[in-house]
Amino acid sequence: ARIWAVLPAAGRGTRFGGEVPKQYLEAAGKPLIAHALDALLSHARIDGAVVALAADDPRWPGWTTRHGKPLLRCTGGGERADSVLAALHALPSDVGDDALVLVHDAARPNLRAGDLDRLIDAAIAHPDGAILGAPVRDTLKRADAASHIVATEPRSALWRAFTPQAFRRGALSAALERARADGVVVTDEAMAMERMGAHPALVEGREDNLKVTTPADLALAEYLLARGTA
Ligand code: CTP
Ligand code: MG
Repeated sequence: ARIWAVLPAAGRGTRFGGEVPKQYLEAAGKPLIAHALDALLSHARIDGAVVALAADDPRWPGWTTRHGKPLLRCTGGGERADSVLAALHALPSDVGDDALVLVHDAARPNLRAGDLDRLIDAAIAHPDGAILGAPVRDTLKRADAASHIVATEPRSALWRAFTPQAFRRGALSAALERARADGVVVTDEAMAMERMGAHPALVEGREDNLKVTTPADLALAEYLLARGTA
């Protein structure tokens, strides 16, 4: 089957602050979005990628190929799901409904080939697709409005969701369209699939596949990228 990457990169990085959207900030010599793209397109099993950019993005370098593979662009939307849907529509017409699409945050620069391999294997094996994630490690507290502890929640069944998230193109497109029609904002692609009754597989990934949300995250990403594959 064909495998394409989709990178939502139309966000403004409001939690990070500053003038430059975080996907264009540099770490270890290149922008976060270039790290994310290179991790995906340097992988032998991935055929190409689509990036969803803000309508007025002046910073996209205009790449049309990378690692000898097609790199397409489209205009994203107001919510992450709108950006992903736009990218799905921008896939080449010969990428069918059964093709595997890997949705990956442009601001998640430290994706390693081993995680990609295990994610792709799991998504091919499971009809509902698969996502990278990791079990919750901290003790979880439920709070009231005054931030006083009400209960300790059992954590053994709880995971954090990372990206990439891998689904068949047709099923993901239908799920995101449905969430939009229902007026539900989904915070990841798996959530849209779950609303359709799917149970995607959780693939335990590296903890250092972090999403840059704040300046402290960027410092950590810089350290991890400079350190390499340890
Ligand atoms: N994204 C997107 N389109 C949107 C919102 C987000 O393509 N309308 C992308 C971001 O560019 C990022 C990824 O989705 O690569 C993850 O989103 P997030 O970390 O929330 O980034 P931002 O929305 O830019 O940051 P913030 O929520 O702090 O504003
Ligand atoms: Mg956001």
